[in-house]
Amino acid sequence: MGDEKQKSGAVLKKIKGSVRSIFIYADGVDMWLMSLGFIGAVGDGFSTPLGLLVTSKLMNNLGHSSAFTADVFIHNINKNSMVLLYLACWSWITCFLEGFCWSRTGERQARRMRARYLKAILRQDVGYFDLHVKSSVEVITSVSNDSLIIQDVLSEKVPNFLMNVAIFFGCYMVAFILLWRLTIVGFPFVLLLVIPGLMYGRGLIGIARKMSEEYSKADTIAEQAISSIRTVYSFVGESKCISEFSTALQVSVKLGLRQGLAKGLAIGSNGIVFATWSFMSYYGSRMVMRHGAPGGTVFIVAAAIAMGGLSLGASLANVKYFSEACTAAERIMEVINRVPKIDSDNLEGEVLEKVSGEVEFRHVEFAYPSRPDTMIFKDLCLHIPAGKTVALVGDSGSGKSTVIALLQRFYDPLGGQILLDGIAIDMLQVKWLRSQMGLVSQEPSLFATTIKENILFGKEDASMEEVIQAAKASDAHNFISQLPQGYETQVFSFLRLCLESHHF
Ligand SMILES: Nc1ncnc2c1ncn2[C@@H]1O[C@H](COP(=O)(O)OP(=O)(O)OP(=O)(O)O)[C@@H](O)[C@H]1O
Ligand SMILES: [Mg+2]
Repeated sequence: MGDEKQKSGAVLKKIKGSVRSIFIYADGVDMWLMSLGFIGAVGDGFSTPLGLLVTSKLMNNLGHSSAFTADVFIHNINKNSMVLLYLACWSWITCFLEGFCWSRTGERQARRMRARYLKAILRQDVGYFDLHVKSSVEVITSVSNDSLIIQDVLSEKVPNFLMNVAIFFGCYMVAFILLWRLTIVGFPFVLLLVIPGLMYGRGLIGIARKMSEEYSKADTIAEQAISSIRTVYSFVGESKCISEFSTALQVSVKLGLRQGLAKGLAIGSNGIVFATWSFMSYYGSRMVMRHGAPGGTVFIVAAAIAMGGLSLGASLANVKYFSEACTAAERIMEVINRVPKIDSDNLEGEVLEKVSGEVEFRHVEFAYPSRPDTMIFKDLCLHIPAGKTVALVGDSGSGKSTVIALLQRFYDPLGGQILLDGIAIDMLQVKWLRSQMGLVSQEPSLFATTIKENILFGKEDASMEEVIQAAKASDAHNFISQLPQGYETQVFSFLRLCLESHHF
């Protein structure tokens, strides 16, 4: 018993924590926007029951027209029509506040979240990508999808939830004020009216989640095929890829059928509202006969009970989006809070005044984190004196690139030490260490911007002279300066020019 209490306490704490993680990127302005948005959404919700209240009066005015003189009748109608007009203005203002404030704050918070999320991902060490990220698509979709889920909740679902809850409370309050007896009798119907909303919420949540998992499996197959298109072509693997892709989609087709069935049942169960109406009409008519209740009031109370119940169901349908947003927010928080072992943001390490460039590998042992059983280096010793040009020669897969990856501190060795000028590189500041090295990798990649920007990627604050110097050092200056736009040539047109002039 005590255990259960503790467990439920922990679950409640977790829910609270994860709900908070949705709003963690809100600043002062967002707090204001959310407060005004709250007032807007609740105000918008209350305008429905208030409308019903005035309508009940109007209906009774119309129903009892014969009991009044023409003047009193017109006066009553005018008065209630005017109240409806004021209500229209009220509704306009609250709807505007609701729509504007929540959309604005959703956009602001999601923008901040995306930027921090991407920053956190870029901060991770290479081992993280080896272990956790199967493809670049996964990173991009998780950055945009997760933040879109939260943005959608902030700008659409939260106000919708608040508005529907306000309609529910408002409708039952109005119904109670107008005819408490009928309201109490009609109250149990709330449970029936909530069913459609709950079915939407709970029944469809699992299916939707499974479907998105299945789609992402299919996406990975497509992404892998397209990113290695040459290999696919050379092994004539097109039809194999297509059949794998179709097989992966089969599961989501089945899930889609189930989703359709669940949706059909959910929409179909909306018919319950007519059963409620039927009962309320029966009981309401008894109240008209036996208790002298006005017909307009009975009608509106029945309408309020039906509308309130449906609104409560609609508000509960949002709960699935909240739980999705909590999971997404937790995923984002996990990445943002993850401090990598090799942290390029950590500026604590040592920075050498002058580097002569002596490199030493001392009894280095290493295995990639993704394949911990395959030792790449066992007791590797390598000494490269400063200023010496050295070539590492070996079979493919013998570990040449791994030596460089270790020297750049993409990974830490499992044993032994790597020293630069006699100092272990894990004592040095990671950013500084990497900025000391120039690297032309096996698979050079260019960014879609100008040639100058591509060279500047190595050193953001470099002067134009330094850019030219770097280009000269790699024998590219003459070629680049012959281009019509020189260093400002866009890489794509540069590659096209290269192809046209048969440089490749
Ligand atoms: N990120 C990684 N995760 C797991 N294993 C890896 C990773 N990168 C390389 N390996 C493995 O480590 C071994 C050494 O690879 P490395 O890339 O250092 O070889 P290389 O000498 O540079 O080969 P090549 O001449 O083909 O470039 C290979 O068996 C390779 O499969
Ligand atoms: Mg290599």
